[in-house]
Amino acid sequence: MISTTSYTSESLIIEGGFKLKGKVRISGSKNASLPIIMSTLLTKETCHIEDVPDLLDVKNSVELLRLLGAQVIQGPNFLTIDASKVNSYIAPDYLVRRMRASVLAMGPLLARFKKAVVAMPGGCSIGVRAIDQHLKVFEKAGAHIKVQHGYIHLELKDIKPVEYTFEVVTVTGTENALMFLSMCEKRSILRNIAIEPEVMDLIEVLRKMGASIQVEGRTAIIRGCSELGGFTHRVIPDRIEAGTFLVAGFMTKGDIELENVRVDHLGSVIEKLKEAGAHIEVYGTDRIRVYSKGNGIKPLSISTSEYPGFPTDMQAQFMAMCCLADGWSDITENIFENRFQHVAELKRMGADIYVKGRTAFIRGVEKLTGAEVFSTDLRASASLVLAGLVAEGKTIVRDIYHLDRGYERLDEKLRNLGALIERKASYE
Ligand code: EPU
Repeated sequence: MISTTSYTSESLIIEGGFKLKGKVRISGSKNASLPIIMSTLLTKETCHIEDVPDLLDVKNSVELLRLLGAQVIQGPNFLTIDASKVNSYIAPDYLVRRMRASVLAMGPLLARFKKAVVAMPGGCSIGVRAIDQHLKVFEKAGAHIKVQHGYIHLELKDIKPVEYTFEVVTVTGTENALMFLSMCEKRSILRNIAIEPEVMDLIEVLRKMGASIQVEGRTAIIRGCSELGGFTHRVIPDRIEAGTFLVAGFMTKGDIELENVRVDHLGSVIEKLKEAGAHIEVYGTDRIRVYSKGNGIKPLSISTSEYPGFPTDMQAQFMAMCCLADGWSDITENIFENRFQHVAELKRMGADIYVKGRTAFIRGVEKLTGAEVFSTDLRASASLVLAGLVAEGKTIVRDIYHLDRGYERLDEKLRNLGALIERKASYE
């Protein structure tokens, strides 16, 4: 099958040294939108999702839904989805390769059609990213699972209620299980679930659809319905985009205000920024200002963990900041085994970093210098943009396809805050 979406490999050209100033609106969350979009497969009623970011991953999700037979109206930052005529339960290889989150179709398809065929996701640049925990839940519910020609085939008669303790905390694993079990009328219990805000947003949607889900600590008790209803929902603001702008504001010694944030989702990020010397002011529950009084950046010790701990998705951006700190910082990555690919690129810009096992040790340097660097994954790309904003001279960030998967108009937003940044076709 031939993909209908084409990807141009573009670059960002950044002239460093400008302080960010002004206001920026944070978009709806990518990682909340993706499972919510897939949850529409659970119902024959119309669903309306608001504040959906305009991103490649969202376009890919819409492409998958349409391929399965859903009708999707895509407006500026909203989606209206009618999955009543979905007549396929196959998620093809080329889409799963393009977007790993396509595995989120597995739970809803299996629940609705009692069958699902989903291409086996491979590893990705940040690690192996197994899905054994997703499959264990389906298996416990009575699914027969086999892998053939690169596809996972799942089939079951009736959804049996499940009692399962996740062996690792997994975000999409929890989401797949919750969507799936929302169509099981009997009571299921999931323990050791992920409680990321994106998971909680999906739970709110599933409740709107008619499922009863109680969460206490890391335990969820789910009582579903055989027929789920439609919903209207506004996705939560993107806490990782917000975190990225907070770091950018402080690193550039600027003064910016973020609108449309959930301050309560940013706890560990705010704490670390304050520790680094950032001044943070919170206005109500949805606005936050970050500024620097021109003081230096204090070194940090960071260890990533599941929410409410420090997010792995913010690790690369903080590393870019620590490159300029007054002393040694250390960052330990506990979630993914290969999420330090930005290190080599940051070193090309003059950073002093060495990695030992899961920990990167960063010695702050006087300055970074602009260089030609390559994006390897989404958050790594963001860290290179941040480094480019403070580096001396010109930075070219190549292959920003990853960045466009997860940040809505990042270059435009930064430009509006005073950054000198432009997008060009690569090798132009
Ligand atoms: N894992 C297993 N077995 C499983 C599932 C996960 O061993 O069945 C392991 C993974 O290999 C990994 C760890 O558990 O080492 C955590 O993986 P998780 O399943 O939580 O990650 P994910 O659900 O695939 C989501 C986000 C990621 C984010 C992680 C961690 C989406 C679409 N993706 O991935 O977001 O980093 O949770 O918070 O929600 C990003 O936005 O840049 C991004 C990578």
